[in-house]
Amino acid sequence: TEDVLILAIESSCDETAAAVIKNGRTVLSNVISSQIDLHKLYGGVVPEIASRKHIEKINQVIEEALKEAEVTLDDLDAIGVTYGPGLVGALLVGVAEAKAISFAKDIPLVGVHHIEGHISANYIENPDLEPPFLCLVVSGGHTHLVVVKDYGEFEILGRTRDDAAGEAFDKVARAIGLGYPGGPKIDRLSKEGNPYAMNFPKAKVEDAPYDFSFSGVKSAVLNHINKCKMQGIPVVEADVAASFQRCVVEVLVEHAIAAAKDYHIDKLAIAGGVASNQTLRTAMKQACEKNQIQFYHPSPIFCTDNAAMIGVAAYYEYLKGTRHGWDLNAVPNLKL
Ligand code: KG4
Ligand code: ZN
Repeated sequence: TEDVLILAIESSCDETAAAVIKNGRTVLSNVISSQIDLHKLYGGVVPEIASRKHIEKINQVIEEALKEAEVTLDDLDAIGVTYGPGLVGALLVGVAEAKAISFAKDIPLVGVHHIEGHISANYIENPDLEPPFLCLVVSGGHTHLVVVKDYGEFEILGRTRDDAAGEAFDKVARAIGLGYPGGPKIDRLSKEGNPYAMNFPKAKVEDAPYDFSFSGVKSAVLNHINKCKMQGIPVVEADVAASFQRCVVEVLVEHAIAAAKDYHIDKLAIAGGVASNQTLRTAMKQACEKNQIQFYHPSPIFCTDNAAMIGVAAYYEYLKGTRHGWDLNAVPNLKL
């Protein structure tokens, strides 16, 4: 049988990315142009700036991805692109580009759900991983506990009721003066702090054991900082970061393990930017070992936004026969 080559494009937020994937699981190239330094100046992603930067960078990023993979547009079997969820103006750049290539080269266009991409990142380095398995998706915009029943087939067991896990990291980081993006900075600073210095609340959502709520712990951190300021006590940033992180990680691990046991699933994967958090990875690994659950996780480069994961998801959608037309639009709040 012939190799299937897919070019994938990701532009849903602040990374302009393109990748070439062979037969669904082999990454021939994975190019990412990050806009972080630009958005840092404003303390968060500015949508209008993101769109403009995607337009400036996208052709160059695609050219690099093709060159690195040693293929041309004529070698491609399909083109995959994130069409939601995300920033509408940012998504549109990738979608328009993908349509143009699909039209010019007369190859199938496969729209991909960004979260399906994050989940699919686990297939890249785990050739033995196949559905069904449980996946905890923790990113800047999403916190989902999902049963992956088959490729592209999901049952959502739980989701956040307010802030996403990554959003909580970013807001707490801002409050203790670490800047954007906060997740990696809290991860690093926590190593110097005492995770048991403070006991921040671990919220439970009534009658929804797999749902999450992170606005409470975020508020508790802000209250602690305000109290310190009012009483003239110095804020020990490393202790706050470590205690906050312990709280969030414990909740994520407890929910995921409980769901795996309740649903008798012995494979658990993590995905999304927060899945690169070292404390979460270690804690989840230990909990899985204790409960005889096989633990899977992507390398950090495949956790945060990238196009390789979109190419993997596109491949399995392509095999199922998913094809999009010229009417494919960006869908900012696309449901899984
Ligand atoms: O998946 P992602 O790159 O973009 C979205 O789809 O949202 O996730 C970005 C989020 C940000 O909130 C960032 O602070 C968080 O992932 N993040 C981390 C770490 N690296 C990135 N959070 C905790 N620890 C990390 N090491
Ligand atoms: Zn993402």
